[in-house]
Amino acid sequence: MHRHHYAQYAAHSWVAGALLMGLLLCGASARADDARKLATTVCAACHGPDGNSADPQYPKLAGMEQEYLLRQLSAFASGKRREEAMTAVLANVDPGLFSGLAAYFGSFAAAPGKVANAQLAAQGKPLYDDGNTDSGVPACAGCHQPDGKGNARFPRLAGQHQAYVLKQLADYKSGRRATDALMTTVGKRLTATEAQALAEYIAGL
Ligand code: HEC
Ligand code: HEC
Repeated sequence: MHRHHYAQYAAHSWVAGALLMGLLLCGASARADDARKLATTVCAACHGPDGNSADPQYPKLAGMEQEYLLRQLSAFASGKRREEAMTAVLANVDPGLFSGLAAYFGSFAAAPGKVANAQLAAQGKPLYDDGNTDSGVPACAGCHQPDGKGNARFPRLAGQHQAYVLKQLADYKSGRRATDALMTTVGKRLTATEAQALAEYIAGL
């Protein structure tokens, strides 16, 4: 008798467990679907359907680590990083979808960038690889990798639009983007010409 009850209980809890698991999985895939829908209907207008934006004021998101993209979405939402277009868009997005959005855009291959000024790009290379010891600018390659592909801690820069890179360096400098103390220092120490040369070099990586 006792034994029979136990078996019944065990069977019930197995069924309940399986049902719960099914619901959780359903919830997770509904979330991924919601994120994909939002990405293709809303975000794609500026960032491109595959995260390779055509307009240089909008960053390419393709090929970037999910962790980095997620951190930036939270920074826009909290006001640590300020930009009207993104703040307005995210005001209507459930933060529970941020991680799915980051995974979606990061999953595509990044399209190569276009160098507009080869002479400037050539000036950018030694700066990128070795920094500027006179003004205390660290080597970008030390963190973002020599090929600019980055890793989980340091974002990918390779092939990014010049205009976007220049704006970020200026925003770190002015404090509009207060997401990283070291990048604020980098922004402050770079001259305008150095920033331009770096943006050209990065576009060609
Ligand atoms: C109206 C245009 C517009 C739309 C729509 C838009 N974005 Fe953006 N997004 C921008 C701009 C502009 C920036 C650059 C902000 C800056 O200069 O700091 C940006 C930056 C970002 C960044 C930071 C990238 C980096 O390299 O640090 C992420 C992540 C991002 N957007 C994700 C999204 C997602 C996800 C959506 C949809 C929910 C979305 N964006 C919709 C314009 C847009
Ligand atoms: C000590 C490591 C380190 C060094 C050196 C470094 N960076 Fe960064 N960089 C970072 C980190 C970390 C971030 C992301 C910070 C954040 O969350 O805003 C970043 C972000 C950036 C971004 C914004 C990327 C985006 O998608 O919005 C640009 C542009 C950039 N770095 C350019 C440079 C350049 C150019 C140099 C060299 C002059 C450089 N960095 C040197 C660590 C570094």
